[in-house]
Amino acid sequence: MDHSLELEQQYCARNYSLHPLTLVRGEGVWLYDTEGRRYLDMMSAYSAVSFGHGHPRLLAALVEQAQRLALVSRAFRHEGLGSFAQRLCTMIKMDRVLPMNTGAEAVETAIKAVRKWGYKVKGIARNRAKIIVCANNFHGRTTTIVGFSSQAQYRDDFGPFDNGFISVPFGDIAALRAAMTPDVVGFLVEPVQGEGGIVVPAPGYLAQAAALCRQNKVMFIADEVQTGLGRTGKLLACWHEDVQPDGVTLGKALGGGLLPVSAFAACAELMDVFTPGDHGSTFGGNALACHVGEEVLKLLESEQLCEHAYRLGNDLQMQLKALAAPEFIEVRGLGLLQAIVLDPQHWQARDFCAALCARGVLTKDTHGNVVRLSPPLTISEAHIKTVVEAVADILREGRQTQKRANMTASA
Ligand SMILES: Cc1ncc(COP(=O)(O)O)c(C=O)c1O
Repeated sequence: MDHSLELEQQYCARNYSLHPLTLVRGEGVWLYDTEGRRYLDMMSAYSAVSFGHGHPRLLAALVEQAQRLALVSRAFRHEGLGSFAQRLCTMIKMDRVLPMNTGAEAVETAIKAVRKWGYKVKGIARNRAKIIVCANNFHGRTTTIVGFSSQAQYRDDFGPFDNGFISVPFGDIAALRAAMTPDVVGFLVEPVQGEGGIVVPAPGYLAQAAALCRQNKVMFIADEVQTGLGRTGKLLACWHEDVQPDGVTLGKALGGGLLPVSAFAACAELMDVFTPGDHGSTFGGNALACHVGEEVLKLLESEQLCEHAYRLGNDLQMQLKALAAPEFIEVRGLGLLQAIVLDPQHWQARDFCAALCARGVLTKDTHGNVVRLSPPLTISEAHIKTVVEAVADILREGRQTQKRANMTASA
């Protein structure tokens, strides 16, 4: 057995099932294992490696800033925070930003902001504030967040949880309307449910939900930790429906795949409920994170990656649909956040991903029958062709195996 795998097995918490593959190097859209085999990265670390591995501009920004100044106490100022915040706010049309590190922390920040706004501005009685969330959500792993997860494994045995959340079915505007009681302060939603299996709501849902929030004086908070920063073909996925959220969480790609950088950005009315000492983080908004984050934002613009992701995502979806495979229930997604939903009578997603891996395409199954495809936004047409050919090859081989098995059974 690979020694590193042995060590991991012995000394690490068992909160991940171990994949047999050990990756040692990444370059652009490619990953390399210990044997020197090359894989096309169709996972990009859950959208965190949106610019490919080791993007030269991001690496240069990281090294340059690390050599100059990486971290000071947030009690002191450094030069990079203001310009990073200005660029981010300008690009996503928000007034203020509060930088954190992980996606879950950005979501926690949003929850705190919305609750405090509820008490201080909307006038809700203390400790009565409710936030509406969607079934099948994924917003992270803190105890507050898993408390409103509909995934049993994420919740079970980690309680007790607070009851400040109301869950409604995703995409169901009537259920959202019915849940709008006077104590509701916020609606927290992923514009496309990522971990939930790349679930795209029906057109108009987000716009209707945002309108409902406005009518009920409720803050519309988009969790764009996975969908944001170009992944779906727009800077914010909400913009596909011309929705400007009151608050938005970003993470993953904001750190350029090099370090954890997240943020909660919001309108002034919401963010200004925070006063010194209310909230913070040792590493949130550090000099290194700000410098890399700002380079990420510049790169998104100069390389026109939103447009590229939109076009190539459409190409990928169209080419997969054109296979007209009876093994597929559907191919769905937005931009470069796509999924093949397999008919479990033909394929388990785990086996399909193993077959892709054997053909040098790396990705991860979710929800038993969903194969997700979320490559770096820098992927090319030729790479898309490689993926579609690998998928077609697996389907062909699967059918041949099935045919042989049927012949043996009937012999
Ligand atoms: C929509 C969404 N929100 C929040 C998170 C949590 O991010 P992190 O793992 O960085 O805490 C994720 C992670 O997958 C996510 O997809």
